[in-house]
Order: sequence, then structure tokens, then C-alpha cells
Amino acid sequence: MLLQDRVAIVTGAARGIGEATARRMGQEGACVAVVDIDLDVAQGVATFIRESGGQADAFRCDVAKPADGEQLVKDVIAKYGRLDVLVNNAAICPRIPMEEMTEEWFDRLININVKSVFFLSRAAAEAMKPQQWGRIVNLSSTGGRIGGVFNATVYGGTKAAILAMTKSFARHYAPWNILVNAVAPGAVNTRLMQMPEDKLKVQIEAGPLKRLADAGEIAAVITFLASQEASWMTGSTVDVNGGTLML
Ligand SMILES: NC(=O)c1ccc[n+]([C@@H]2O[C@H](COP(=O)([O-])OP(=O)(O)OC[C@H]3O[C@@H](n4cnc5c(N)ncnc54)[C@H](O)[C@@H]3O)[C@@H](O)[C@H]2O)c1
Repeated sequence: MLLQDRVAIVTGAARGIGEATARRMGQEGACVAVVDIDLDVAQGVATFIRESGGQADAFRCDVAKPADGEQLVKDVIAKYGRLDVLVNNAAICPRIPMEEMTEEWFDRLININVKSVFFLSRAAAEAMKPQQWGRIVNLSSTGGRIGGVFNATVYGGTKAAILAMTKSFARHYAPWNILVNAVAPGAVNTRLMQMPEDKLKVQIEAGPLKRLADAGEIAAVITFLASQEASWMTGSTVDVNGGTLML
């Protein structure tokens, strides 16, 4: 039980990597706040965790709105009495060709993928300070390492921004034993990876393991980083990509 009695917020937990992380954290003994803009689906995930013997509740939050994130932290602490772990997982990846990118979509990508990470991390870390223990795990991407592929230019930029912010937060909150790390997955079999068959094939062939990851394979690494076991890691980026990118 890696997360026994810990309280964890997982954003974007209604599906994909966030859902797998919420479920895994529930199995590891955490009390999980299953957070998503899509409350109905998040409620289904929370119900599944409870029916499997874990503790979980669903919360609606639009992570792009700092006020929503600050209220979320308050609501979770009001409900469970503390906050130990934040997983900044919610993001969007619209596949928009360079020539067709609009200012509106650009701003939306920045707000959901980047602004959320700053404001939610700060609100969570401030709540964690008094207990001198905290973990923040940010979802980046191989796109943040090498630039987004298949019409994901701005997305790649947002995922690179997360890597830099992870390091700044790690330095700033280290005195309170709040450790901040990033995970950079390769191609994972989720809604976000939906693309034409031929494009998907290129992604699969690019890696030595010749397959997409299952969301649970990313959740395992996130859960480790959220635990006491990762006590000597902060400001790190863990590449979880099946060998597609070997740095
Ligand atoms: N799937 C991949 O191949 C892949 C690869 C690298 C990185 N990632 C990263 O992993 C994370 C999860 O991706 P996924 O593949 O599970 O995506 P997904 O689309 O399956 O799930 C994302 C979840 O985020 C929620 N969400 C979107 N906007 C939101 C908002 N404003 N507020 C709250 N919730 C919101 C969605 O409702 C959804 O439930 C993302 O940060 C993504 O960039 C994914």
C-alpha cells in the first residue's frame, strides 16, 4: 500500500491516464479526489474505486480557471482534512494544422494545459506546507521533449513549459519537503491519441516495443512518484515511452 492514508487529487481523472491513476491510487490506499470537467464520468470512476474497496469522491473542476482550482483544494481539505498529492493530468490535444491554428485555440491550450498547472500546484503546495510533506506530479509528454508531432505544435509547447515549471516548483517548495516531478509518456492508448490509422501506425512503429502503452503503465510510475518511495526525487522528468526516445 504505497499511499496508505494519503489524500490525492487527480485531475482529468474521468478517463485515460487520469482514470488509471485514480484507480491505482485507490488500490494503494489513497483517498482519491477524482477531478474532471466531466462530472458524470468522474462519478463513475469514483463509484468503481469505492466498489473495489477504496475511498474516492468525484469533484467537478475546470482546471483552466484558477478560482475553480483554488476552490477544489478547499473542498478536498474540507472533505478529507488534508491534501498530500496533486497529479496535474488534465490536458487537451486538438490536432490542428499549423496553418489553421487560431488565437482562440492557442489560448485554450495554454489555459488548460499550462495555466492550470501553475495555479493548482501553488494552491495545493500552500496547503501542504504546514504538514512538511507533499507530492506533485505533472504530466508532460515526449512532445514536450522533441516537439509535438501530427499537428500538435502548440500542445508540444505546453508540455515543454510544464518541464520548466516542474523544476521551478521543485526548487521553491523543497524546504517544505514538497517534491515535484514530471512524467513524460510516449504514445498511450487513450482518447487523446485518436488519429488516422496510418498516423497511429507510424507512432507504434517508432518504438522498439512496437505497441501503444496501456494507461496503467503510466499510472504505475505516477503512483510511485506520489509515494514516500520517491523521497530522493524532485525536479526530475521520468520518460515513460517504451524506448521510443532514449535520452
Ligand atoms: N495519451 C497519450 O498518448 C499521452 C502521451 C503523452 C502525454 N499525455 C498526457 O497525459 C495526460 C492525460 O492524457 P490522456 O491521454 O489520458 O487524455 P484523455 O483525453 O483520455 O483524458 C483527459 C481528461 O482530462 C479532462 N479535461 C480536459 N479538459 C479539462 C479541464 N479544463 N478541466 C478538467 N478536466 C479536463 C477530460 O474530460 C478527460 O477526462 C495529459 O496531460 C496528456 O497531455 C498523454
